[in-house]
Amino acid sequence: MLSEGLLVSAPGKVILHGEHAVVHGKVALAVAVNLRTFLRLQPRNNGKVSLRLPNIGVKRDWEVAKLQQLDTSFLEPGDVAAPTPEQVEKLKEMAGFPEDCKGSEHLAVLAFLYLYLSIGRKQSTLPSLDVSVWSELPTGAGLGSSAAYAVCLAAALLTACEEIPNPLRDGGHASRWATEDLEFINKWAFQGERVIHGNPSGVDNAVSTWGGALRYQRGQMTPLQRPPALKILLTNTQVPRSTKALVANVRSRLIKFPKIVAPLLDSMDAISLECERVLGEMTEAGLAPEQYLILEELIDMNQHHLNALGVGHTSLDQLCQVTGAQGLHSKLTGAGGGGCGITLLRPDVGQPTVEATKQALASCGFDCWETSIGAPGVSIHQAASLDAAIRQALNGL
Ligand code: PMV
Repeated sequence: MLSEGLLVSAPGKVILHGEHAVVHGKVALAVAVNLRTFLRLQPRNNGKVSLRLPNIGVKRDWEVAKLQQLDTSFLEPGDVAAPTPEQVEKLKEMAGFPEDCKGSEHLAVLAFLYLYLSIGRKQSTLPSLDVSVWSELPTGAGLGSSAAYAVCLAAALLTACEEIPNPLRDGGHASRWATEDLEFINKWAFQGERVIHGNPSGVDNAVSTWGGALRYQRGQMTPLQRPPALKILLTNTQVPRSTKALVANVRSRLIKFPKIVAPLLDSMDAISLECERVLGEMTEAGLAPEQYLILEELIDMNQHHLNALGVGHTSLDQLCQVTGAQGLHSKLTGAGGGGCGITLLRPDVGQPTVEATKQALASCGFDCWETSIGAPGVSIHQAASLDAAIRQALNGL
């Protein structure tokens, strides 16, 4: 067990193109968005393990000795084992949660216990530590907040338990793990995601681990050769939606009008491929103005297709109109029906335009972040190298 504290961060994700079409075997492009989750792990000698998640109001402590006495043999040692429904039930029992609990606070605690007990049980005694997690990502908005949480937990616990080396030992302000260690982090994070989501696709944790951009089709994930570096506005309309219901509606529409909807899905596939091609041409100097124009046209066409699939929403129309009035192009990202949208910021768009757009979006009641896509994946930091605001948030925990 390491004696020093660790500070880890992992990004959220947005889908650039291919949402819904991906459910029907088409290509989607998922990219890391530079809104991050931060985790601080501090080894302790007080015989306790504690978890603080201020974004969702979680504050829990356990006696290590009590956890040690519990029969955790149901967590298979050795390999990265997928949590079975029985294991999740046992964890609920351990945490003292009711059987039918499914609130985000409960699920986040269960994922922590699962990863702490599974990774920590390989030590001679379970480690005493404090874990605090704080996020810039809103929860439940389709931005991969639970995956970023699981990736941070897996990376920090594996490093603290010396299952993987601490890459910061070589100096520097921030560092990333070697490829084989990232693969290990990703596998454990996927299991943490499974505790929270049941049967996730694995895209969110992969993007959060690797960063950059991933092409995703029929369960196959391929990192894009050149991770794009694009500026965007990310807007949360705050309109709640159910991914499950929206996916089901698209399926019904496809069954009802196969000759109309199937070509739309093919066209969305072609949009993802064209976008991938353009991003692949990106150089150190970024994209040329005419390449930005192509990206904008792709955004507009896909947004219309998504509307034709029936996953639009008046709030998303409003987002497109408000940004369109400033000469900017937007589309929904993720499931639609409300939720989030992205707006591409060309390099020639001045800060006054960006500020005016952000203000106009805020006055619609939307949350808006100016951020970048193609962000680095899970990283470990020297506390002093972090932004003052993030340091302050973490110190307050
Ligand atoms: O908003 P999210 O992250 O739940 O996006 C869902 C993306 C869909 O393509 C609509 C569904 C899926 O499973 O790929």
